[in-house]
Amino acid sequence: MYEFENLPDRRKSASSKWMVPEGVLPMWVADMDFPAAPQIIRAIRERLDHGVFGYDEVPDEWYDAYINWWDKRHGLKLNKEGLIFCTGVIPAVSSAVRKLTTPGEKILIQTPVYNIFFNSTVNNGCTALQSPLCFDGEAYSMDFDRLERDMSDPQVSLMILCNPQNPGGRIWKKEELAEVGRLAKKYSVIVFSDEIHCDIVRPGTEYVPFLSVSDECREVGIAAMAPTKAFNIAGLHTAAVYSENKTLRHKMWRALNTDEVAEPNSFACVAAIAAFNEGADWLDEMCAYVFENRRIAEEYIAANIPQIKAVHSDATYLLWLKMPRSGLQGDLKDKTGLYLSDGAVYGAGGEEFLRMNLGCSRQTLKDGLKRLSEYFNANKKA
Ligand SMILES: Cc1ncc(COP(=O)(O)O)c(C=O)c1O
Repeated sequence: MYEFENLPDRRKSASSKWMVPEGVLPMWVADMDFPAAPQIIRAIRERLDHGVFGYDEVPDEWYDAYINWWDKRHGLKLNKEGLIFCTGVIPAVSSAVRKLTTPGEKILIQTPVYNIFFNSTVNNGCTALQSPLCFDGEAYSMDFDRLERDMSDPQVSLMILCNPQNPGGRIWKKEELAEVGRLAKKYSVIVFSDEIHCDIVRPGTEYVPFLSVSDECREVGIAAMAPTKAFNIAGLHTAAVYSENKTLRHKMWRALNTDEVAEPNSFACVAAIAAFNEGADWLDEMCAYVFENRRIAEEYIAANIPQIKAVHSDATYLLWLKMPRSGLQGDLKDKTGLYLSDGAVYGAGGEEFLRMNLGCSRQTLKDGLKRLSEYFNANKKA
């Protein structure tokens, strides 16, 4: 019913991803090539037609939209008092680092992970304590001995958790998150759980909100949520932070206001409300399309490029590709025009990987896979 095949030319829209020379195929930055759901576009158009764009408040409907979505979609009851609007998840991560840590302290980050967590850390005078996840050749898991050792470092005051995980696409299980919460409580570490990818899951699969897991998680946790990844509206800068812990909630409220990232532009709330209130069907279709892209990519790679391995996963539109060895893909872009993300930027354990964005039409996907195959098979023969 919705359109995922015939897509607008993004080169004409100052898109970060598509500002590349002709011939280059960008499958890197984590946004999708699909237009937003018609329901979101209609809501924005109505706001646009109003024609007055003075300062906006966060309306009650915005709180209701988050509360209803998390209740119906994820079985988590949010309360209005715990929710705070912010202009993005990364602005919130950076504000949390500034407010909840002191320069020189360490921030625990399980790797490989979304690289900007490192920027938020070092830009604010802290050090990233990289705590690698285990990869057994098929899937990721948490190394709890390692995690406990790292949590017990007296300089660690904050952990940034990625749930579900980008780039590996792991949906963390309840027991895993419970153990994170238990250790965090034991060592007085605050957990900032970035849940921006939570709505992009394999049909029939559910993510587990960190704050749904246990009293310990609710005590140590702050969650960041947003409609931006799942509904492809990242350019509208609209997100939320939530905590049940009144002290943490108060600190985040102060942090976001001090950093001036707690006020919406004229379209931020309108778009979020339309996404959560009216976008469920679009989202279901998008997930079905993207997970079919994933199936096609996994099968193609297994059949045509057996020297690399696609990590099977249940979340995100990002495909994490294990290379035979580190650095092999160094000239992929120069030789084929295919622009993927280099796994090394995602921290320890990412060096032998590439990340491929599957939030695209099937035609783009096939072009990307063909270029990947030509590159690896040419290299093999050389
Ligand atoms: C895990 C994760 N968190 C946050 C972001 C960015 O969030 P925002 O655009 O709301 O700052 C991304 C974007 O790729 C991401 O993958």
